[in-house]
Amino acid sequence: MLSKEDINNLIEKTDMVKLVEPYTKLKKTGSGYVGLCPFHEEKTPSFSVSQDKHLAYCFSCHKGGSPIQFLMDIKHIDFMDAVKELAKINNVNLNLSTKSDNSLTYKKYYDMNELALKFYQANLFNTKDGKVALKYLHERGLNDDVINDFKIGLAPKEDNKLYSLLKDAGYLELDMIDNGLVKSNSNSYQDVFIDRIMFPILDEVGNVVAFSGRTYKESKMAKYMNTTDTFIFKKSNVLYNLNQAMSSIEQNKRVILYEGYMDVIASYRAGLKEAICSMGTELTTNQIKKIKKYTNNVIIAYDNDKAGLNATFRAINMLRKEHMNILVMRLNGAKDSDEFLKLNGPVKYKGYFNSNLKEAIDFIYDTYTNNANLNSSTQVEELKKDIYRELRTFNSALLVEKYLKKLSNLLNISYEALLNDYNRTTPYKPIEEIKIVEKTKLEEKTIYELRLFEYAKISKEKALYIDNYLEKNDCLLAFCELNQRLWVLLVNEYYSHHQEFLEDEFVKLLNENNLFDDYYQNTLQLENTNIKYTDEDLDSCLKRMIQKANEKKQDLLQENIQKATSAELQKELVLKKFKERKNKKGK
Ligand code: UTP
Ligand code: MN
Repeated sequence: MLSKEDINNLIEKTDMVKLVEPYTKLKKTGSGYVGLCPFHEEKTPSFSVSQDKHLAYCFSCHKGGSPIQFLMDIKHIDFMDAVKELAKINNVNLNLSTKSDNSLTYKKYYDMNELALKFYQANLFNTKDGKVALKYLHERGLNDDVINDFKIGLAPKEDNKLYSLLKDAGYLELDMIDNGLVKSNSNSYQDVFIDRIMFPILDEVGNVVAFSGRTYKESKMAKYMNTTDTFIFKKSNVLYNLNQAMSSIEQNKRVILYEGYMDVIASYRAGLKEAICSMGTELTTNQIKKIKKYTNNVIIAYDNDKAGLNATFRAINMLRKEHMNILVMRLNGAKDSDEFLKLNGPVKYKGYFNSNLKEAIDFIYDTYTNNANLNSSTQVEELKKDIYRELRTFNSALLVEKYLKKLSNLLNISYEALLNDYNRTTPYKPIEEIKIVEKTKLEEKTIYELRLFEYAKISKEKALYIDNYLEKNDCLLAFCELNQRLWVLLVNEYYSHHQEFLEDEFVKLLNENNLFDDYYQNTLQLENTNIKYTDEDLDSCLKRMIQKANEKKQDLLQENIQKATSAELQKELVLKKFKERKNKKGK
């Protein structure tokens, strides 16, 4: 196991100048060295290196620190990898037991996936079935180089070939199942992926963490099937192709966010290699944080349909919260980038892409104004509200003026009148105040959720009881997104390996999932409250969850009604809403 002394020794041993020099030129000063910061662009040096203190730190952007921190920041690696790197540089042999070292614990899973990957690849290129699948890929425009670059393979149509291979290689059934490759069927074992084209999912350092399998023949099955979440794979954390895109992202200082694998591959074929996508799920904060390690500039290039449009709005909102610079690329005449490439070829795609980038605000403004019928005063009112709301989120007088002027031209209303209207409906609020208001609202809303965590920590039995209750009453969705994830982590992961709640053990798990800060905030919120934890209180918390879940369901329906385009669909949804209300009352 790695000890504190090991780490201190490593740091003591490090020659800071030698460590930093490959990244920036250093100049000797009185007590140490200075240079231009390797983490941000600057003209006067604020990066300071001290041999005695073993520090390399930028006083302007605050990156760097100890040699370990410096390596973490400059190479975008985690703590353990930085320690190992430093050990290598200093020729130190670290004594790492498997216990504290994730990459070793998980090594068997990575290795198993790597073996499966090789097997799928061989199966694609060397078998009769492989020929059919290859033909499908070729027809979609992927040549063998691209197929190899993305390590695409084929799962055979026999249902236990991978299982036999893994068994022969000495893997335990339990590990195969945990890793999402094999399932058990009463008294036999079966491969999870059968007769599908296999897209491996790699993490940032190139470990194969999961697979996504696509049907390639007429079939009623789901188009893509993904590995379920495992010890080494959390779908909502992963970004497809990030590993391969990394160098282009840093070179071009931007990343392109697509909806699907095939769009990422199309982009790559067109020479826009800084392309990634999430795996069919909404963009999460964790994913954005991952992107942020490499760039702050994101281009959203989602599908050219209503779902893609809505997803673009949601992605903008998420990215804005993390202060990213956002551009939007919308297609014309094709449903997604893959189809555009098929219709027009890679050169045209790249050209179209680069000349159709819009600032997020322009995209928003154009979408709202293009979709409104300006002859209808109700729609004009709606349009106004939408634009005002968006302008508010930018909090910039400059933008308010710019877009209200645009709007005044469009609506043929004087700018003064619009500004007046805007100010009347947008009372001035300093940012701080808004934040505080939102925070107290948050506390009221979620405190009963937080209490449930406290009950779940009392014992595994209690946790399972609550989980069961929530599941049975279909109200897990009442949790806010964050608490939902924390809950799954506590009940489904933590308690499936532990019999009792131990804060330290749970914190380890939180750290692995980048959730420690959020969890900590939660516990802080409870600190100043005076809650008596009783069975009655637990009961009332659970009741609140049911109530909240129902509210959420109603909201969702309402949202869909507003979004529904056709009168038919709207009618249908209104009826559904009405029925749900009635059901609830009847209960
Ligand atoms: P798309 O349907 O846009 O897929 O779904 P695609 O990548 O363009 O694939 P092709 O062109 O039809 O082959 C977008 C993403 O949603 C996820 C996948 O990650 C996919 O890339 N998805 C889609 C699933 O996980 N399961 C599905 O059944 C469908
Ligand atoms: Mn597609």
